[in-house]
Amino acid sequence: MQNIFDLSGETAVVVGGTGALGSAIARALADAGARVAVLGRNSENGDNVVASITAAGGTAIFQKGDAFDKSSLEAARDSIETIFGRATILVNGAGGNRPDATLPPGASFFDLPLNAWNGVFDLNLVGGALLPSQVWGEGMVEGRYGSILNIASLAGMTALSRVVAYGAAKAAVLNLTQFLAREWAPANVRVNALSPGFFPAEQNKKLLFREDGTYSDRAGQIIAHTPMKRFGEADELGGAAVYLCSRAASFVTGHNLVVDGGFSSMTI
Ligand SMILES: NC(=O)c1ccc[n+]([C@@H]2O[C@H](COP(=O)([O-])OP(=O)(O)OC[C@H]3O[C@@H](n4cnc5c(N)ncnc54)[C@H](O)[C@@H]3O)[C@@H](O)[C@H]2O)c1
Repeated sequence: MQNIFDLSGETAVVVGGTGALGSAIARALADAGARVAVLGRNSENGDNVVASITAAGGTAIFQKGDAFDKSSLEAARDSIETIFGRATILVNGAGGNRPDATLPPGASFFDLPLNAWNGVFDLNLVGGALLPSQVWGEGMVEGRYGSILNIASLAGMTALSRVVAYGAAKAAVLNLTQFLAREWAPANVRVNALSPGFFPAEQNKKLLFREDGTYSDRAGQIIAHTPMKRFGEADELGGAAVYLCSRAASFVTGHNLVVDGGFSSMTI
């Protein structure tokens, strides 16, 4: 039987591939056979991700690049293309929340600083989706083949308390996903989103953990509201990412796949 999840012959670029979720997705794509370019700003972290992929028998390189800077992304695209050929998979995994854009408990929405709001929108919508999609999407449209995966969030699907800028930015990522899905479907380029629930990572650790490493009150509330009664582990996103980028999802575009341990299925 043919393996419809096989990614051999594909070149994947994982922007933010040095992060908690991006690195796990990069590993999963490599396990499925893709050549993977891990793109990020920190070479040491990038080299570690590449080493873990190659140790497992996969093929990967690290490419330095800044998701906010279009010319840096264009230079990254050109050098990845020289080594691996044109990218056929793009994972938009740069993003996250910022502490100054999170309302402290009991704080007023009126006090939310505009620069923090703008920073979260820039990170998640501009660097996190728009610019890499422009830079790599063009080659996919020209080549009439490709798959883009935007890492959105449960926070973009419902109004979580306190993280309003992050939630609104991720809602915009979901809308952009649908726009690009319809725009590029005629060119055989699929665009989907993956919405994780709660996974411990660098960008959310202040919200989820106290300084002594124990769960914050908010973490306790989240786990109580999650039918599976735990946070997700980054590797648990791998199967969903491989599915959406593979032939198994050849008629799937504009979709948002939620991986949240049941959080969004539970009201009380
Ligand atoms: N952890 C969660 O619970 C969770 C839940 C839902 C969605 N997400 C989303 O998953 C994605 C990955 O986040 P994570 O939780 O792994 O956090 P993380 O902080 O571990 O990873 C984010 C990555 O983005 C990179 N990045 C930030 N700015 C960049 C830039 N200008 N150029 C290149 N790279 C840049 C960071 O260096 C880091 O490697 C984000 O979009 C985040 O919003 C995370």
